Amino acid sequence: MHIGIDLAWGANGRTGLAAVDDDGRLLDSASVRTDAEIAGWLDAHGPAVVVAVDAPLVVPNATGRREAERLIGLVYARYDAGAHPTNRSRPWMDPPRGMQLAESRGWSVDPDHTGTEQRPVCLEVYPHPGMVGLFGLGRVVPYKKGSFADRRAGFERLVGLIETLPALDLPRSAAWASVRERLAAATRLVDLDRLEDEVDAVFCAHLAWRWARRDGSLVVYGDLRQGYVVAPPPPEQPPTPRGAPGGAVAAAPIEERPPVGVGPWRGEWPEGEQWDPELLRQGDSRNVVDAYRYWRMEAIVADLDARRHPFSVAIENWQHDLNIGSIVRTANAFAAATVHIVGRRRWNKRGAMVTDRYQHVLHHDDVAGLLQWARGRGLPVVAVDNVPASVPITAYDLPERCVLLFGQEGPGLSAEALAGADAVVEIPQYGSTRSINASAAAAIVMHEWVRRWAR
Ligand SMILES: C[S@@+](CC[C@H](N)C(=O)[O-])C[C@H]1O[C@@H](n2cnc3c(N)ncnc32)[C@H](O)[C@@H]1O
Repeated sequence: MHIGIDLAWGANGRTGLAAVDDDGRLLDSASVRTDAEIAGWLDAHGPAVVVAVDAPLVVPNATGRREAERLIGLVYARYDAGAHPTNRSRPWMDPPRGMQLAESRGWSVDPDHTGTEQRPVCLEVYPHPGMVGLFGLGRVVPYKKGSFADRRAGFERLVGLIETLPALDLPRSAAWASVRERLAAATRLVDLDRLEDEVDAVFCAHLAWRWARRDGSLVVYGDLRQGYVVAPPPPEQPPTPRGAPGGAVAAAPIEERPPVGVGPWRGEWPEGEQWDPELLRQGDSRNVVDAYRYWRMEAIVADLDARRHPFSVAIENWQHDLNIGSIVRTANAFAAATVHIVGRRRWNKRGAMVTDRYQHVLHHDDVAGLLQWARGRGLPVVAVDNVPASVPITAYDLPERCVLLFGQEGPGLSAEALAGADAVVEIPQYGSTRSINASAAAAIVMHEWVRRWAR
């Protein structure tokens, strides 16, 4: 297990914690305050191998700055990702809290060590240079400073970038789903402050895993004697000119970014509210149809809203079924009006390929909530499952305005859902299996609706 810690320099600030497994998958993340809480969280998460700490560790100098800060400044200051000077002149830096933590846990701080369970290593890292170097940014993402709207936009961008790191496997992570939920619910700067340490810790944990993998993507700036910082080498391309909106992502691809999409817009930029200047400048690698290339996300949603079909899709979510993401993606492809998640609020987003951001996704605690929503709008609920009372969909007069309700792998639809629905339909089968995969069934039924009603 590898750990990321965004450690508050003083004893009262918030500290972000994150753990990834040996394959780099995010296991958990949290935000705590006291030394005891940090120790408790670490104890609960098993033996560490590599720990990446965003806080000074080795600080031998009484005044001035460390050689590591000079070196980081040399390569990263022009990307606004330089380092503040650190020395022992401040009471909270003598000794540094990071070093106290490493000593109390028995972690080596020697960057010559690769780390093992018997001999874990703790390294000082900086997320800012880390992000610029790893994501190939033209300038640091502004998520720490500014107005609520600016910071929120910076956060959205940052979490989107972190989601491009496949090793973290974030679509499967409940901890990340919670981060996403809290970001979506944030209305004040303090909400973003609370998230910041946790998101930084997740990124630090990824750096820790990279160190363990020894893949050569990290460099030690400085040394054990004078203090050091571990960060990736800087991007190859020059920084985005100052004043350019949003601290742009450079065209240089990061190693994990799939080679999809379109590059920067060629020629004169088009005029209109729908165009996103950042995408025009940097290219668009999102999972959108060509007609929406370079469009702002809100503009795409507004355009879809004007022509969505009058059927909605609902899915029971009692078990975090993997199919749910695929069903949401298909609902998006067929322009369903809304998607309803019934049951657990957190649903498994793997498979949705971020298509949920272009959908209106509503949650209901139980089937009664969904039925109430549908009845209030005069929408019949069509349950889809192959149970004894089901009518073959081929013989069923599928209404144009309706809610299609699907069950999960294993249990299928709950008794409550089957009893409360206005109709129960099935896809006729001819082989030996009891049922088909839930997301395949949903795709067939949604297409059946499209075949009958789409114009
Ligand atoms: C694995 S199936 C449910 C189990 C199934 N009722 C059984 O008897 O084994 C999971 C979900 O996939 C969908 N599904 C799978 N096969 C289906 C079929 N032939 N007709 C309708 N829905 C089906 C339904 O929404 C169902 O709730």
